Amino acid sequence: MTEELVLIEKENAVGTVHLNRPDKLNALSPAMLSALADALEQLDVDKDIRVIIIAGSSNVFAAGADIEAMAKASPLEMKALGTRDYWLRMRRIDKPLIAAVSGYAFGGGCELALQCDLIVASETAQFAQPEIKLGIIPGAGGTQRLTKAIGPYRAMEMVLTGEAISAQEAYQHNLINRVVPVERYLDEAKELARLIAERPPVAVRMAREAVRRGVEYTLTDGMEVERRNFLLLFDTDDQAEGMNAFLEKRPPEFKGE
Ligand code: COA
Repeated sequence: MTEELVLIEKENAVGTVHLNRPDKLNALSPAMLSALADALEQLDVDKDIRVIIIAGSSNVFAAGADIEAMAKASPLEMKALGTRDYWLRMRRIDKPLIAAVSGYAFGGGCELALQCDLIVASETAQFAQPEIKLGIIPGAGGTQRLTKAIGPYRAMEMVLTGEAISAQEAYQHNLINRVVPVERYLDEAKELARLIAERPPVAVRMAREAVRRGVEYTLTDGMEVERRNFLLLFDTDDQAEGMNAFLEKRPPEFKGE
């Protein structure tokens, strides 16, 4: 088990993917990204799972792309590593993703957290895009998602200096949802996951899509996605159940239909 690059844990409706390359600080080698994409896709089609957590260890979330795999590569060789495809596969995951971050979330590690819908961090978490110190720039969304998350000025500082920000700073910049003591971060992420898992899954998926599109689209286009998803939900059993349960003063039983 310990030799696997990622480990999957399932608990009720929550699936957790643990990054498991401790000797290299969970550096995201092509093999690691491939294993991660496989694990996420496996949980995405698992009918028992409603929310997915990506976690590292308490010391490190992930210290970025694997520098060893890139050190001598030409642009074409970098392209041939195929890492873009693994990132695209992760982007296509439909279920809510929560990053449980403790320690370093550097480079691709920071981008992996940014790819998630929610970020729960320990007080020891640090976020950085240090690629500039290696003579490159972020290549998995760091210049784009970070800018949308914390604004161009703060993102520019992180991308141009490569310096890390603490969990507290990340929280103040609206980069993350929660900061908790290190011994609590995974439990906190699981509690948040459980709360979302209790909600009607189709509505969760529609809501998630609307919020994610809102980041990418114009307001008018985003409003259209919201309206479409809002109306579609009136064709689900869970909408009838949610509203009837409220009127009958009982807890709802959502079936995901
Ligand atoms: N790629 C490949 N290997 C990495 C790595 C990465 N991104 N980050 C860490 N490692 C390896 C180190 O080479 C070392 O391997 P070794 O024991 O075989 O020599 C091992 O992980 C431990 O790392 P080390 O640097 O000794 O740990 P540290 O606690 O002193 O420092 C960091 C931790 C995160 C500050 C430091 O490892 C670091 O700066 N890593 C690179 C971060 C980065 O630039 N990421 C963006 C890549 S594009």
